Parts: sequence; structure tokens; C-alpha cells
Amino acid sequence: MREAGSVEDISYFDHAATSWPKPQVVVDAVVHALTDAGGNPGRSAHAIALAASRLILESRTDVASLLGVPNARDIAFVPGCTAGLNLALKGLLKPGDRVVVGSTEHNAVARPLHALAAAGVRVDVVQADSAGRIDPYDIERAVAEAPTRAVVCQHASNVLGAIQPVGDFADIAHEAGAYLIVDGAQGAGHLKLNLAALGADAYVASGHKGLLGPQGVGVLYLAPGVDAVELMQGGGGSSSEDPVQPTARPDRYEAGTPNTPGIAGLGAAARLLSAEGDAIRATERRLTRMLHEALLEIPGLRVLGPPPAEERVPVVSVVHERVDGDRIAFELDSRYRIAVRAGLHCAPWAHATAGTSGSGAVRFGIGYGVTEEDVERAIRAMREVCA
Ligand code: ALA
Repeated sequence: MREAGSVEDISYFDHAATSWPKPQVVVDAVVHALTDAGGNPGRSAHAIALAASRLILESRTDVASLLGVPNARDIAFVPGCTAGLNLALKGLLKPGDRVVVGSTEHNAVARPLHALAAAGVRVDVVQADSAGRIDPYDIERAVAEAPTRAVVCQHASNVLGAIQPVGDFADIAHEAGAYLIVDGAQGAGHLKLNLAALGADAYVASGHKGLLGPQGVGVLYLAPGVDAVELMQGGGGSSSEDPVQPTARPDRYEAGTPNTPGIAGLGAAARLLSAEGDAIRATERRLTRMLHEALLEIPGLRVLGPPPAEERVPVVSVVHERVDGDRIAFELDSRYRIAVRAGLHCAPWAHATAGTSGSGAVRFGIGYGVTEEDVERAIRAMREVCA
């Protein structure tokens, strides 16, 4: 429970885990959904249920418009990016298929693929360099080695910040008759997206990170004609007389009562990002570079990922040669009221790629609401903690 005044002085650098504080329009939209539109959308036909249906319709339209999806029905609201990735991977791959996957994937991809490998899917990993960048030629070579059902890759690393050339990966995958499945957890919101042009067959986004919505909602985009076979996806919704889940989009992927307050909040966030996203992203880029360059000057500190001159999502992870990462995070929190995340960030593959499996790292995740003063405070604190 947020007590008035108790969190005001926190410099929040954990946006890669979840954005906070949420924009006021998001908070207002959630309260409005709970207060004025609390019926069950798409079921009953009374006023309060219709109000909920309307909120979902508006959110779907506004999220689709933000993401460059011409037909809003190609967007399904799912409980989160992890749920959406599980659905896409398990729905598009079957035993005997082969996938080519990047070496910095989050466990939301690595673990479903581990389970699929046990069920007979061949998983071949393409190594990124130690900054997390994957060369498209390496994807091309891997795809040429054997028949491939899908290339799977995150848009950007939650540890290293590296942005993958997913448009190139889409061309390579399609040339070979394979799907491109993208984990957009760290891409959506922080990068301007036009999914229709990008070419991904499946793009899954977290609603609560760069997209600034509440937790408990994510977005699954499946390109027209790409249909994941449902796994445990039957349930209430439309066409009750039919024993099987309807195949029409988005109902096919949205069994059960949806998270209406979360979806309403996400819709409000999408409208905000459509109006102000360019300015928000420009600030994120400027502050990320400012922090990155200053941290590079601290003796004994290694900054992971590409150099400051290269584009990255607003994530800067560091390892100190002497001071333990958990210690740094603890000191930042307890002495300076600075929130960061230390450890492996649910991404052991990324840390193996960077050579930091043993130590983990301390991650600064910049996002909406972080100011230049916050960054100056973080730099001062890091100089002291690492002295
Ligand atoms: N995947 C989230 C992170 O990177 C939780 O912290």
C-alpha cells in the first residue's frame, strides 16, 4: 500500500522489471474501469457489462494503433509477456520442428524452449557477441544448416540493452519458410514499433514495462494467417453453443474473463505513448547515455552491452571488480533510496553471453518519469559505493 509521502524520494531505476510510478492517466483508467465499468465484458448485455466491453474495444484499437497493427483483431490481450510467449512457442512449434534462437534470451523464452526440446523440438542457439549483438549472417548460416520452423529472438536484451535487427531476421526467416517469433518485452514502448512493417509473425509485448500499463496484461500479436494451435485455451467467451474454442480473432486467444482494469490502463498508456512517445523515448535515450558515460568513468566498474555511441534500450548493467552486486543494490536502496535490480535478471543466457554468470550484474533500467536529477544522484551514489 502506497502511503502518502513514503515513496516520493525514491529514484526508481527498475523500469526494465516494471515501470513505476504509472502515469496518472493509467491510474485513472484503472479506477474508472473498477468503479464505472465493472461488469463482465463480452458476456452480459446490461449497461455495466457493455461499459466494460467498450473499454476493451477502445484499448484494443489504441494499442493496435500504437504498435502499427492495421487490424486490431490481430492483437490479443494475454496475462503477460511470459504467457504470450508460452502460447506462441507452444502453439507454433511441434515435436520434430527445429528452432534457431539467440543466446541472450530471457527465461520466458529459454524455459518454454527447454520444455519443448524435451518434447522433441530441436533448439539451436546462435551466439551473440559479449555485448549481446547477434550478427544476421550468423542467423542466416544457422537457418541454412537444416530445415527450420522458427527463428526466435528478443527485440532487446533486458540485461545488455542490445537491440537486435529483427527486421533482418524476419527476411531471413521468411526466405527459409520459417516464422520469426519476437520477445518484445524490452522493446515495446522503448522503441517505436510498426509491427505490420517489421515482419514478425508473432510479437509478444509486456504491458507493464515500456508500455506503461498495469501488471497482469500483455499483448500477443500474430500476423494475419499465423495461428497458434491453442493449448489449454478453451473457455468462456463467445459462441457458447460450440464445444470448441471459436477460431475468430481475438476470441481464439482470450478464453475466460479478461483483466478489464489492466487492459483499460494499458489503453490509456497507449494513448499517452501515441501522443508523447517520441519525446519520452528521446529523454530515455539522453539519460541512458548520460548514465552510461558516467559509469564508464568509475574505476573497477565494467558496463555491459554495446558502447554509448550505439543505440540500446534504456538499460545499463554494471559489474564491479571488487564490490558485490547485491551489496551495491542494497547500499543504493538503503542509503540513497535508489531502486535497481541485481542478480541474473531471469536471464542466465544473457549473463553467460556477457561472461557474468558467476557475479550477475547491477541493472539500471531507465523509463518514464526518470529525471536528470535522478541520474545525477545515481552517479554520485555509485561513485561513493564503488570507492
Ligand atoms: N524480466 C523482468 C526483468 O528483466 C522482470 O527484470
